[in-house]
Amino acid sequence: MDRIRIRGGHRLNGEIHISGAKNAALPLMIASLLTDDTLTLRNVPRLADVALLMRILGNHGVDISVDGKRAGMNGIQGDTMHLTARTIVDTTAPYEMVSRMRASFWVLGPLLARCGQARVSLPGGCAIGTRPVDMHLQAFEALGAKVDIEAGYVLASAPGGLKGARISFPKVSVGATHAALMTAVLARGESVIENAAREPEITDVAHCLAAMGAQIEGIGTSTLHIQGVERLHSATHEVLPDRIETGTYAMAVAMTGGDVQLIGARQDLFDSVVDVLGQAGVAVQETNRGVRIHRNGTGLQPVTVTTAPYPGFPTDMQAQLMALMTRSEGVSTITETIFENRFMHVQELARLGADISLDGDCASVRGVERLRGAEVMATDLRASVSLVIAGLAAEGETTVHRVYHLDRGFERLEKKLVACGAEIERLAS
Ligand code: UD1
Repeated sequence: MDRIRIRGGHRLNGEIHISGAKNAALPLMIASLLTDDTLTLRNVPRLADVALLMRILGNHGVDISVDGKRAGMNGIQGDTMHLTARTIVDTTAPYEMVSRMRASFWVLGPLLARCGQARVSLPGGCAIGTRPVDMHLQAFEALGAKVDIEAGYVLASAPGGLKGARISFPKVSVGATHAALMTAVLARGESVIENAAREPEITDVAHCLAAMGAQIEGIGTSTLHIQGVERLHSATHEVLPDRIETGTYAMAVAMTGGDVQLIGARQDLFDSVVDVLGQAGVAVQETNRGVRIHRNGTGLQPVTVTTAPYPGFPTDMQAQLMALMTRSEGVSTITETIFENRFMHVQELARLGADISLDGDCASVRGVERLRGAEVMATDLRASVSLVIAGLAAEGETTVHRVYHLDRGFERLEKKLVACGAEIERLAS
């Protein structure tokens, strides 16, 4: 398994191009199942999760090419993807695939809407808590599907077709909102989704569905009104920039000091993170090319942050913020409200010399004068990048093991950082 070796202590200066958002690209690719026409996506990030989803969609019969070439099994080269689900040849998504990436469970809704049935393994993905799918199933049942669970698989069918319904979620869920929306667009009549997640990636998918002919009102709000249509058609859509990647590099610059332009980033997508960086003493400026982050000299101030659904502080930035706060001049409090068990980076950060104590869902981070390089283990996608951020500021050498987690969600991470002066390299096993 590959490792990443970092020699810390270099400031970051220069430019980093922000990729398309993983969490939008995945559901957008899945949306291609809803039409027999071609969906063209631009600005698709080159990530292991995207490559895996290409294989999963390929199994269902989706014909996929990237920049005009049929994609190989080992990832993709370009960033324009054409997906054509002319005929769905298989409505089963097997355990071997779905267990490797939770978002692949989201194929269930579109398969059900298009083919009247689907059989999808219960998901796996990052080990950050139990992550049930009860609200997804609630949405399918509300829309008239019969749902059973058998031998680890969800079997959903709607022989008479799906019917629009009111779906009121008890809790905000990104995945359940995607599922409900992508299913309701082809259901007969009107659907209303209440307490919908408002993450920008949902808005991006809703805009793409609208370009494909779906009728959706309330995009960007917590109540979505959908008027079902008989069929969707081809469209071209550009994936929005990755706000988590943006925030992650912003934290990295905040950590090391320096001055970096995040090209193509959109500040309006990560306001809550910008607020927190401001409180910590880091300057963030919108420019005509993206967002500029700089910190020179002054110490980092501690912050008090609680994760929340959008527009709150994202759980996907919690680990990176914690890494940053290990160097603040005081005690920070970070509360995780979205996922239990999302503190696996704490013990790894401690190996680098961080002083963090945990009390249930709340972490107290006492800033230390210096971190020292060590061997650490990546445990999930966002946790692993927090170790990279800490390693960039640690004295000496840090080796991050199990970097395949990073490759799931960060495009060319080492190359982007090296270009800004970091000493970081990948060691193949
Ligand atoms: C998505 C993101 C992930 C992010 C998360 C929260 C993608 C590919 N993944 O994950 O990066 O960390 O949103 O912003 O976009 N829940 C239930 N029942 C359900 C579904 C969810 O109880 O049926 C709970 C979860 O356990 C969790 C909370 O709802 O406590 C939010 O999870 P959800 O928003 O669904 O996360 P994902 O869509 O899996």
